[in-house]
Amino acid sequence: MSQVEHTAAGVPNDLEPYWMPFTANRAFKAAPRLIVSAKGMRLGTADGRSVIDAIAGMWCCNAGHNRDPIVAAIQRQAAELDYVTAFQFGHPGAFELAARIAALAPGDLDHVFFCNSGSEAVDTALKIALAFHAIRGEGSRTRLIGRERGYHGVGFGGISVGGIVANRKLFGTLLAGVDHLPTTYSRDHQAFTKGEPEWGAHLADELERIVALHDASTIAAVIVEPMAGSTGVLPAPKGYLQRLREICDRHRLLLIFDEVITGFGRLGPCFAAERYGVQPDMITFAKGVTSGTVPMGGVLVRKGLYDTFMRGPEHLVELFHGYTYSAHPLACAAGLATLDVYRDEDLFARAAALEPVFADAVMSLKGLPGVLDIRTVGLAAGIDLAPHPDGPGKRGFAAMNEAFHRQDAVIRLAGDTIALSPSLIVTADEIGEIVDKVARTIRAVG
Ligand SMILES: Cc1ncc(COP(=O)(O)O)c(C=O)c1O
Repeated sequence: MSQVEHTAAGVPNDLEPYWMPFTANRAFKAAPRLIVSAKGMRLGTADGRSVIDAIAGMWCCNAGHNRDPIVAAIQRQAAELDYVTAFQFGHPGAFELAARIAALAPGDLDHVFFCNSGSEAVDTALKIALAFHAIRGEGSRTRLIGRERGYHGVGFGGISVGGIVANRKLFGTLLAGVDHLPTTYSRDHQAFTKGEPEWGAHLADELERIVALHDASTIAAVIVEPMAGSTGVLPAPKGYLQRLREICDRHRLLLIFDEVITGFGRLGPCFAAERYGVQPDMITFAKGVTSGTVPMGGVLVRKGLYDTFMRGPEHLVELFHGYTYSAHPLACAAGLATLDVYRDEDLFARAAALEPVFADAVMSLKGLPGVLDIRTVGLAAGIDLAPHPDGPGKRGFAAMNEAFHRQDAVIRLAGDTIALSPSLIVTADEIGEIVDKVARTIRAVG
């Protein structure tokens, strides 16, 4: 049994029963990183330190932590209506939030299906794509196209279209009929790029090759992240997403943008689709919609897509899909209050204005020992460290521990890549503090 030595109030002395997700459990339990409080840009540790959160929780607390109006809205909602089934019943907050999100979405993305996480949002979007073609009499369109180095959560749909081998290899045959575009990242052509790389738009043409191989009549949808976040911040090359859109149009494939990370201001506009001027048929979102306070995800769909389902006898369910906690009242209250904060504090514009400040600051890490590449876009950055001779991931893991235990900063690791994604409330001074701490971290593990 693992024991933690400190005895601060509320700190458990048995860490064993909790099987932690995406965590090196034994290493954590030997040297825990326990957080007990949060406010704004800071987290409070169980041993009484205040550490800067350089990753907005996990790309989600875009409005900062424990914002008073959001906390109050959740408290009010809990006291008034804790739960109502989302099947055949509703509550006002769900309709209001759907309308508010649709108003923020580009073009005619005007209906919202709610769920509870990014993974559920992805599976929902993939299912809608399949069902859409089926009810239009094109039931042969069953293939789904993802991308190498894509991350779409951990449902069977998401890991099937996702492109991370460790997330796929132990889980059987996954979904049948999935193919993958190549990754858009090439260090040879893109190293140390701020924003969208010049090189790589032609990689979208690989979709033509995939269509030629399988025939368009067998393909339902293409799903990509406008910026691959979890595999180390890989922004789409200039013109890449436009080209994907054109090819999808040519072959009547649905284009899904997975905006679980990029949604709600990470790249400036509310959705990255707007930054790139590309209209997808669906957008998946989660994380920032409630600033990480209450789990929520969802799928935005274009009007025509929703309308296609609205046929048949009116007493019948149109889409056999949904979750017990779809549009949960607490999540909706949190979402509405979060959107108010984004609007009242103009946080998306703030993120856009800070992008060059952030990019310059992070790029100053170029030249530190073992830094192989740095990428920045919006308020996101990936810093590739040279893998340790003992094996991939070791230097990254050491960096996370160094940052947390000695530099008072929480950073995120994808293998040996440090990811930074501060809340949109971050100040220029705090960007400086984060980059300083990351520099010291890199030197310590170099
Ligand atoms: C692009 C993308 N899609 C889906 C997910 C899965 O979200 P969740 O962990 O809420 O299921 C993530 C999580 O980071 C993500 O980055």
